[in-house]
Amino acid sequence: MADTLTGSTPRAAAPVPEFPMARAAGCPFDPPPSLRAQQDEGRLVRVRLWDGSTPWLVTRYEDQRSLLLDPRVSADITSPGYPLQAPSNGKNNISFILMDDPEHARLRRMVTAPFAVKRVEALRPGVQKIVDDLIDGMLAVGGPVDLVQAFALPVPSLVICQLLGVPYEDHDFFQENSKILITRDAVMEDRMAAHGKLLGYLDELMGEKLARPADDLLSGLVARVESGELSRQDVAQIGVLLLLAGHETTANMIALGTLALLEHPEQFALLRDTNDPKLVASAVEELLRYLSIVHGGRRRAVLEDIEIAGQVLRAGEGVIMPNDIANRDPEAFADPDRLDLTRDARRHVAFGFGVHQCLGQPLARMELQVVYSTLYRRIPTLRAAAEVDGLPFKHDGSVYGVYELPVTW
Ligand code: HEM
Repeated sequence: MADTLTGSTPRAAAPVPEFPMARAAGCPFDPPPSLRAQQDEGRLVRVRLWDGSTPWLVTRYEDQRSLLLDPRVSADITSPGYPLQAPSNGKNNISFILMDDPEHARLRRMVTAPFAVKRVEALRPGVQKIVDDLIDGMLAVGGPVDLVQAFALPVPSLVICQLLGVPYEDHDFFQENSKILITRDAVMEDRMAAHGKLLGYLDELMGEKLARPADDLLSGLVARVESGELSRQDVAQIGVLLLLAGHETTANMIALGTLALLEHPEQFALLRDTNDPKLVASAVEELLRYLSIVHGGRRRAVLEDIEIAGQVLRAGEGVIMPNDIANRDPEAFADPDRLDLTRDARRHVAFGFGVHQCLGQPLARMELQVVYSTLYRRIPTLRAAAEVDGLPFKHDGSVYGVYELPVTW
């Protein structure tokens, strides 16, 4: 009635945008423009997911950090309102990344020690050798080569295999099934089948570790089964989580990071020409910030009403916090769309934030430092052997990157 009296027409409800949103053509390193528009507005908005649900979208850096620290949000995939990435059978068989404390903390503690900075530093010479050997191989064959297959995937796969005690000969099997698991558009049956195969594989390996314990992470976990601290299923699930998280993420950072550097020749030159470990470490943080490859967003369910950014999030609602846009928030990083390897980007949220912050970050950092300080120094004329616009980007996965990156020198 009021509308009639004032002569104005009722305002149509704004359409709920679909999530995930598309990146702009020709801007493969930048978050989708609609995420930027939402961040500029500052309000929380609802987005529509594949299943029709409409969780809240949180785009600002400080809002994301505050929610990720809040015990009233849950990472448990079975909590009411949890915004699912893809169809699920309603069970959590991906281990502690999708659990809440205290069970999350109990399981995470079982694998914390091998990822501590000091233990990871001890692996550096071995990683340097892996990197040098792979570069020797590429130089021997000659370009063009696909950097993803020849280098980016083998580096972290070899490292995580050694750490866990998984035979590297099986890499085709676990890389293929991991890929299906993190492809958003894969049908549920295929994803479940891939997960089942990986769990079965880990379970079989556990049998071997029981018979012949070795000095590796999996043998350590198997000993905890014997002492009654963990079930066999717990160990298989943790094993799959570490195997998957240990190679997929870092591999994409290597390939996409290299592409970003090739597209920013002055930044490439900085890394190529330096021996300064501080500059290399800072470059790693900046590339993590700039690329924010785990772009599907931190996903949580609200357990109790929370007021944030002038909005009340109700218990039972879902929240999505894409870290790619938080890492481009001008309130947190000056001139955020500029790749600047010399900036101090350490406050980025590319590894998440709060209790679920990435367990493997010391390992990922060390691997990337070795890669970025070696590859361009040893192959200073490295260049892309294909048009960037024609490259197959991973728009369909929960981890962003390129499926292929032809390079030559
Ligand atoms: C550049 C490489 C990497 C990136 C960008 C990355 C990113 C992330 C992010 C964003 C999360 C938070 C998930 C959430 O809050 O929902 C996470 C968690 C995790 N990451 Fe990584 N990760 C990387 C490498 C690794 C490596 C090498 C490992 C080693 C195995 C690893 C193991 C894990 C585990 C186990 C968790 C779950 C932690 C928890 O729930 O307590 N990640 N990672």
